[in-house]
Amino acid sequence: FTLLIFTTFLSFATGACSGLKVTVPSHTVHGIRGQALYLPVHYGFHTPASDIQIIWLFERPHTMPKYLLGSVNKSVVPDLEYQHKFTMMPPNASLLINPLQFPDEGNYIVKVNIQGNGTLSASQKIQVTVDDPVTKPVVQIHPPSGAVEYVGNMTLTCQVEGGTRLAYQWLKHGRPVHTSSTYFFSPQNNTLHIAPVTKEDIGNYSCLAKNPVSEMESDIIMPIIYYGPYGLQVNSDKGLKVGEVFTVDLGEAILFDCSADSYPPNTYSWIRRTDNTTYIIKHGPRLEVASEKVAQKTTDYVCCAYNNITGRQDETRFTVIITSVGLEKLAQKGKSLSPLASITGISLFLIVSMCLTFLWKKYQPYKVLKQKLEGSFFPYMLFPQLLSLTKIPIFRSVPASDGVSGQDLHSTIYEVIQHIPAQQQDHPE
Ligand SMILES: *[C@@H]1O[C@H](CO)[C@@H](O)[C@H](O)[C@H]1NC(C)=O
Ligand SMILES: *[C@@H]1O[C@H](CO)[C@@H](O)[C@H](O)[C@H]1NC(C)=O
Ligand SMILES: *[C@@H]1O[C@H](CO)[C@@H](O)[C@H](O)[C@H]1NC(C)=O
Ligand SMILES: *[C@@H]1O[C@H](CO)[C@@H](O)[C@H](O)[C@H]1NC(C)=O
Ligand SMILES: *[C@@H]1O[C@H](CO)[C@@H](O)[C@H](O)[C@H]1NC(C)=O
Ligand SMILES: *[C@@H]1O[C@H](CO)[C@@H](O)[C@H](O)[C@H]1NC(C)=O
Ligand SMILES: *[C@@H]1O[C@H](CO)[C@@H](O)[C@H](O)[C@H]1NC(C)=O
Ligand SMILES: *[C@@H]1O[C@H](CO)[C@@H](O)[C@H](O)[C@H]1NC(C)=O
Repeated sequence: FTLLIFTTFLSFATGACSGLKVTVPSHTVHGIRGQALYLPVHYGFHTPASDIQIIWLFERPHTMPKYLLGSVNKSVVPDLEYQHKFTMMPPNASLLINPLQFPDEGNYIVKVNIQGNGTLSASQKIQVTVDDPVTKPVVQIHPPSGAVEYVGNMTLTCQVEGGTRLAYQWLKHGRPVHTSSTYFFSPQNNTLHIAPVTKEDIGNYSCLAKNPVSEMESDIIMPIIYYGPYGLQVNSDKGLKVGEVFTVDLGEAILFDCSADSYPPNTYSWIRRTDNTTYIIKHGPRLEVASEKVAQKTTDYVCCAYNNITGRQDETRFTVIITSVGLEKLAQKGKSLSPLASITGISLFLIVSMCLTFLWKKYQPYKVLKQKLEGSFFPYMLFPQLLSLTKIPIFRSVPASDGVSGQDLHSTIYEVIQHIPAQQQDHPE
């Protein structure tokens, strides 16, 4: 490389002094075996010239430079040994190599001589490499059945069928993997060894194989790593959670859900603790507790999660407290008492209350009743059943006085009363 810089510097320096300048876009050109390779060269000078001579030489390390071809003006004189491989179209100094083969790898030297008032000369060197393109890598994982975290190790091997001068890189989620306390690479980097595996090693791995002329990435592979259980917790669909304590209203059922992060999924079991005895009451991630069935107001439960591959388990304790609300006494009196029965009971109570209120109103002076009639019919609207009870007493008790005839009042009340049931029946409670 130092030599290259020196040569470049030399040619630049001499070119600048003599007025001839030879340049190449790149001092290193990577070619693909079997394809054509073009080595571009540019030159320029400022003096009148009679002859332009271009010479191409080829040298490999530790060997003598070989003459490939040369030209004066537009006539080319090739080395007959290589005449089918190298082409030049003078005064264009660029060289075409076709087809490129592995033995063609080495340094190509171009020398330009300008004959005019004296002779100007300059040269450049281009390094050519020849490679086969990379084929798509395939990653093999061992053991393929997976490994238990902190116990097992895992080896990922990148296999590439075709390609020369391969360099390997491992990617996790598309980003390079670096050596760490658990990641080890083979000298070629084509093997990634993880020892031991942890949950954090789960991810999308791929192998990137590249060489100077190509690069290919493998399909994504996801190592199977068994872990857990971690983060065991219990949640309920309803019921207030206070730390490890759930409260549930009497008469309600509560559904508990036990979850923990693990692979493969845990098996769950539920344990109820009463006094000093424990019972396994259910297997599975969900448990329903119906509060009527719980004898005690405070019951301790344990959810146990077990991973049958890692062999590890975790458990969490929690307490269910049954709280009482307004209907507690009703609920305690009869277990068969349904919500419908309760509503019917309350309704009957209200109806009787309304009747009593009305009977009391019946013996009030007429003015009070009149005010009532001109005001709201609220009770009748609520309870149309009252109408049959109230109809007859009203007609008899209302005296005809104060400028309103008994007949008028009678018809007013009657119309109103007749009207209400029809409305109410359209929209029963
Ligand atoms: C090259 O071309 C120049 C002018 O174009 C001419 O004077 C010279 O004789 C040529 N040289 C040869 C070797 O043909
Ligand atoms: C030389 O020839 C190639 C095509 O063969 C062309 O692309 C290139 O521009 C030419 N260079 C000069 C300096 O004319
Ligand atoms: C040729 O070079 C000589 C000395 O280097 C100089 O005296 C002469 O003028 C040059 N002729 C032309 C045509 O440039
Ligand atoms: C995993 O690798 C460590 C260190 O390389 C080794 O000591 C251990 O035996 C390996 N475990 C298995 C299951 O291969
Ligand atoms: C292997 O990979 C590491 C990090 O990715 C890199 O530093 C090293 O140069 C690579 N070695 C080879 C031979 O490619
Ligand atoms: C990993 O790959 C799977 C399927 O190939 C994809 O669904 C998932 O999103 C990827 N995860 C990441 C973090 O890229
Ligand atoms: C482990 O548990 C899974 C369910 O989580 C079950 O499918 C599997 O058969 C169990 N394996 C063994 C060996 O018990
Ligand atoms: C529970 O066990 C402890 C000791 O194991 C004992 O002291 C206690 O009396 C027991 N309680 C009941 C309710 O059996």
